[in-house]
Amino acid sequence: MQTWEAITSRRNVRSYSGQPIATADLDQILEAGRRAPSSQNWQPWAFIVVTEPGKLGELAKVWRGAGHVAGSAATIVVLAPTSDNTYQRAQFDLGQAVMAMAIAAADLGIGSCHSGVQDIELARQLLGFPDDRDWAFLLSLGYPAGRPLATIKNPDRRPFEEVVHREHW
Ligand SMILES: Cc1cc2nc3c(=O)[nH]c(=O)nc-3n(C[C@H](O)[C@H](O)[C@H](O)COP(=O)(O)O)c2cc1C
Repeated sequence: MQTWEAITSRRNVRSYSGQPIATADLDQILEAGRRAPSSQNWQPWAFIVVTEPGKLGELAKVWRGAGHVAGSAATIVVLAPTSDNTYQRAQFDLGQAVMAMAIAAADLGIGSCHSGVQDIELARQLLGFPDDRDWAFLLSLGYPAGRPLATIKNPDRRPFEEVVHREHW
């Protein structure tokens, strides 16, 4: 896939085929996150990659919107530090890392879906991350159960001209 194809094919995929993701592909997705830019290059993220089905089932309980995690081939838990930087960029920076991973996954024909984490203590209990990490985001991954990723011609998005302002508002 070319970059533009990966960008235009990416969508949140919540049902997965059950086909495992090769370790090299999973590492490539994680590497895309590691390479993301961040405020002052502080790289606030840490990633825990979970592939064990029983653990994925438990991880799916951290938020009512995380059900798709249970059937994923892998889920990347993106962890943020307790203290933000001076410019409060952690959310922005983690978002960039997550999007880079979602596009890298799409490039490989792998679907992904975000999820928040409400029960951070359940996540901590399952994954054993330290106390100085107190919020997390999930990115589930897997080959789509139904239609494979393909360019979406008319995405469910606000119109281009409503979003884009040229030279001034
Ligand atoms: C910050 C953020 C949080 C999200 N949280 C969840 C979630 O908890 N569960 C879920 O199923 N989808 C979640 N999503 C996915 C959104 O619902 C999805 O990006 C949006 O509906 C657009 O979907 P599309 O990219 O497939 O068009 C989240 C997305 C973002 C960016």
